[in-house]
Amino acid sequence: MSNRVNLLAPEVRANPYPVYAELRRNAPVSQVDPDGLWVVARQADVLTVFKNPQHFSSDGIRQAYRPAWLPDYPLADSMLVMDPPHHTRLRAIINRAFGTSVVARLEPRIREVAHQVVASLPVGRSVNFVDAFSIWVPIAVLGEMLSLPQSLHPRIKHWAEVYGEFTSIGENDTERQKTILETVAETRFHFNQVLEDRRRTPRDDLVSELLRTHVNGEELSYTDLMGFLFLLLIGALETAVHLLSSCALMLQEQPELMARLRAAPTLIPRFIDEMLRHSGPAHGLFRLNTDEVELGGVRIPRGARMLLLIASANRDEAAIPDPDRFDMDRPGPQNLPFGHGIHFCLGAQLARMEVRVALEALLARFARLTPGDGPIQWNASLVMRGLTQLPLVAHLP
Ligand code: HEM
Repeated sequence: MSNRVNLLAPEVRANPYPVYAELRRNAPVSQVDPDGLWVVARQADVLTVFKNPQHFSSDGIRQAYRPAWLPDYPLADSMLVMDPPHHTRLRAIINRAFGTSVVARLEPRIREVAHQVVASLPVGRSVNFVDAFSIWVPIAVLGEMLSLPQSLHPRIKHWAEVYGEFTSIGENDTERQKTILETVAETRFHFNQVLEDRRRTPRDDLVSELLRTHVNGEELSYTDLMGFLFLLLIGALETAVHLLSSCALMLQEQPELMARLRAAPTLIPRFIDEMLRHSGPAHGLFRLNTDEVELGGVRIPRGARMLLLIASANRDEAAIPDPDRFDMDRPGPQNLPFGHGIHFCLGAQLARMEVRVALEALLARFARLTPGDGPIQWNASLVMRGLTQLPLVAHLP
């Protein structure tokens, strides 16, 4: 038994912030469990890692997503796991297809979906908000971006749930490994259909744009495309679902905040930015140390697997006064919740838009949220923190 803190222990997942604070104070660059990962807890050190991809490679993410039992997972071939120069080339092509017009084009349709979702929420009766509210707008965004048929939406929900706990699956957890293997095969089958269909009949959607886009005569390979579709599925969906659930929980916990936002909906973007800083979904990012290096006064061996605790960096008292306090009047926005540097989130604007539109719809209809039946439950993941159970009762004005 080691004395190291275990970041996957249920009591840590339930509230990791005191542990992060302790790490920032006493062991800002140190080894934790599982697997003796090297965590980086202070904001200044996290930024150093982001700014030096030549020492801190994104291959660390590839290793995390390519365990021996899963040799063929397209996410492990995506731009997320790449370093320059391959990453630079791929990002240029994807960036071109993924222009700001995507956000503007999607907003009216997303607003329609958000109003339908909110209209279908029960009044005065307990419901799991994750299933009934948070998941549907992000699924619609993904569905619109990729022109996926509506009939697939319930399957996408299932995929999101299965992939959500990937980083907590152990080497001997054969039951859950089997579920992942089956789900990867199913997802790949549907994404293959999307690619074949758009090659034959291009539409006004992101996939057609990706197939069309060339930069310096280069286009995306099949592996690049499949990797990107899996990256969207995991990076675009789970993050936004978790953020929406955390927002709903905060509104339940702070009814005066809910009243303030209902009275002044133009404050919703500030609320979202402070939520991202205070309780953002992205908690840890893997990296691999390519050389023996010193960080925060600690020598880290070559080949060390690292976990950048951006959720800790977002609450670093050295950078943010009184960081545990939720205060949407702080100067902002803080962009660190979306990463930094060459891998900075490509969907940051889209995420802010979809969450704003969903909250606008929720706040327009409901005046209060109160706790529902049963306890809330958090997921078990080193990468992403989010609610799996959020029983709430919504009340009309
Ligand atoms: C609240 C929602 C979101 C959060 C907190 C978030 C967070 C992040 C973070 C921290 C990274 C950096 C990863 C790294 O450095 O290893 C990232 C990358 C990325 N995100 Fe997001 N994300 C969100 C939503 C989205 C959405 C909606 C999309 C797409 C529609 C998206 C697409 C991407 C892509 C493609 C990358 C990889 C960029 C690269 O490797 O160059 N994200 N995201």
